[in-house]
Order: sequence, then structure tokens, then C-alpha cells
Amino acid sequence: MPSSFAARLLKWYARAGRKNLPWQRDVSAYKVWVSEIMLQQTQVQTVIPYYRRFIRRFPSLKSLADSPLSEVIAHWAGLGYYARARNLHRTAALIRAQHGGRFPKDKNILMKLPGIGQSTAAAILALAYNQRHAILDGNVKRVLARHADIAGWPGDAVVNRRLWQQADKYLPRQNIAEYTQALMDLGAMVCTKNNPQCEHCPLAQDCFAYQSGCIADRPQPAAARKRPHRRIVMLMAMHKDNLLLERRPPSGIWGGLLSFPEMHSEAEAKTWCQRRLGHITDLRCLPPRKHQFTHFSLTITPLEVKIGKIYRRISEENHFVWCKLLSAIDGVPAPVKKLITQLQNSKNHNGS
Ligand code: ADE
Repeated sequence: MPSSFAARLLKWYARAGRKNLPWQRDVSAYKVWVSEIMLQQTQVQTVIPYYRRFIRRFPSLKSLADSPLSEVIAHWAGLGYYARARNLHRTAALIRAQHGGRFPKDKNILMKLPGIGQSTAAAILALAYNQRHAILDGNVKRVLARHADIAGWPGDAVVNRRLWQQADKYLPRQNIAEYTQALMDLGAMVCTKNNPQCEHCPLAQDCFAYQSGCIADRPQPAAARKRPHRRIVMLMAMHKDNLLLERRPPSGIWGGLLSFPEMHSEAEAKTWCQRRLGHITDLRCLPPRKHQFTHFSLTITPLEVKIGKIYRRISEENHFVWCKLLSAIDGVPAPVKKLITQLQNSKNHNGS
């Protein structure tokens, strides 16, 4: 009799799974929660340095709840999907106010907290407390859709229900923490979206999609929908060694982060500089760059403007700050960081 789904997975995990991730040391629900939220949209290798820095600065739920949101956002800068950082901060405050600062151990209570859905709640309780709950994140959906050859898009309610049924069906009685990590790891390391390593998969022997040669078609994508496209000009205004940045509004993309002032056009940026800053001595458009967000794509045209004599002081109440170009600038989104690095490099190179 072939060994069960869970037994084969656990055996594979013992040999090839991930056991030294930073959140697997001195496990606590707080650390598992932070890591799971970071891992929701981001790969393990990218998350690790952010996670370390975050836990060093916010070692406990209390320290997170006690800190200002701006500092939490600054420690998230570069990871993207900033609603996750805002939700972490809100959830920490709610746990302190409503649960005496102790991380809830009940799945239904966890699922009421901002940013924690059914699979994340299950993962936290399974990994931190070995509680018996099934998970269904993106990687696991792919493993199960292939193993049971489930057609359709996982975002569809009927398909989603079938996937949850599969997830429940294979859940073992014991070793839930290891089993949960094993399933995630198999999805990330073997049953990958492209070029899956079916020859190394412990589930291949009864994987229906593998047997019928349709691995590449499972899970099926959503019907194609064109993302709306926005174009903006980012104003990189420099005065001597200073660079102008603006604090963005608290919600929306890059909410609460420092960024370059955004304009609709080059002409608008020029007029704005002349009215609000001072005399323009040099102006240069850099090649546009494209960014993909979940709901839209964005083309950024960076506009480098040198300001000579400043004849208006821009006010900090209006969220503007002049920063030293050559000092490390933290708390900015990744594409802005790249542009700043480019400016720093050309400054160092030209010495001008
Ligand atoms: N993705 C989501 N949670 C994860 C975890 N705990 N380990 C690795 N990848 C993950």
C-alpha cells in the first residue's frame, strides 16, 4: 500500500525542506505572524533581510503597537504592498487593546483582525502552536490543483471550495507545523509555476495533472483583463546637495512613504518649480520606466531639475522635505530608491 500524501510529504521535508529560516528560531506567534504577512506577496529570499531588520527594531508585539506608524512604514519601505504594514500596526494595537497584548490562539478571532485571512490565520496557528488547520496560499493552491487536476481559476468560488476540500482531506492528525511548512516548501521549491521538478516530487505518483500531462495548465489563470495604465512625471528637484522629497498621503500606493513630488507632465513640473521653488538652471528628462501594481501599471518619467537661487521656502507642513542627497535615504519605495541611487552615483562620479 503506498504511503499517504502527508507521510510522503513529511519524508520529503525531512530531507529537503527549509528548517533554518529566521522565523523558525525561537518560534512565537508574533514572529510567525510578521513573517507570514511579509511572505504573502514576497519571496523568502527577499523577505529575510527585511524580517531581520523589522524584528530587531520591533522585537515584540508591544514594541510594534507602541511605535508610530511612520516608523513601521519606514521599516517596510522597499517590500511593496504597504497596506500590509498598516494592517500589522493596526492589528498590534487591537491585540493590545482587546486581548491584553497576548496573541489570540483562536482562528475565528484571528480572522477578524486586519490583514489576516483564513489561510494566514491557519498558518500562524499551525506553525506557532501546531494547531490542526489547513492552509491554502498561492503555492498550496498550485500543488493541490495539480495533484487533483482541478480545472478552473482558483479565484472562482467553486474552484476555491474544491481546493479547500482537498486541503482538509490530506491534513494529518499530527506534525501539523512540519506538514504546513512542507506543503509551502514543496510549492515554492518543487511544484513551481514554471519548470516544476516533477521527477523529484514525492506526490508525483498519484498527481493527476502529471499523469495526464497537463501540469502547465494547472491552476488555470483568470480570464485576461487589461490593467489600466497611468503615466506620471516624478520631479527630482535638486538644490546644491539637497533633494526635494514629499511625504505621500497615508492611503493609496506607497501610503505614508517619502517619494518624489508627482506631476502630470513636464510642463506642469516646470511651472511648479518656478512658482514654488526658485530659478531653474538645468532640466533633463530621463528615460521612462514601467512598474506593475496589482490593479494598474505605471509609467514614470523622471525629470531632473537643478534649482539655482531658491526664492521660496517650501513648507514642511505641506509634507515637503529637503534631504541631503548623499546621506542614506530610507523610507522610500523601491523605484524611488533606485532613482536616488542613480543620482548619488552620478554626483559621486561627476563630483558636481
Ligand atoms: N510562504 C508563506 N509562508 C511561508 C513560510 N513559512 N515559509 C516559506 N514560504 C512561505
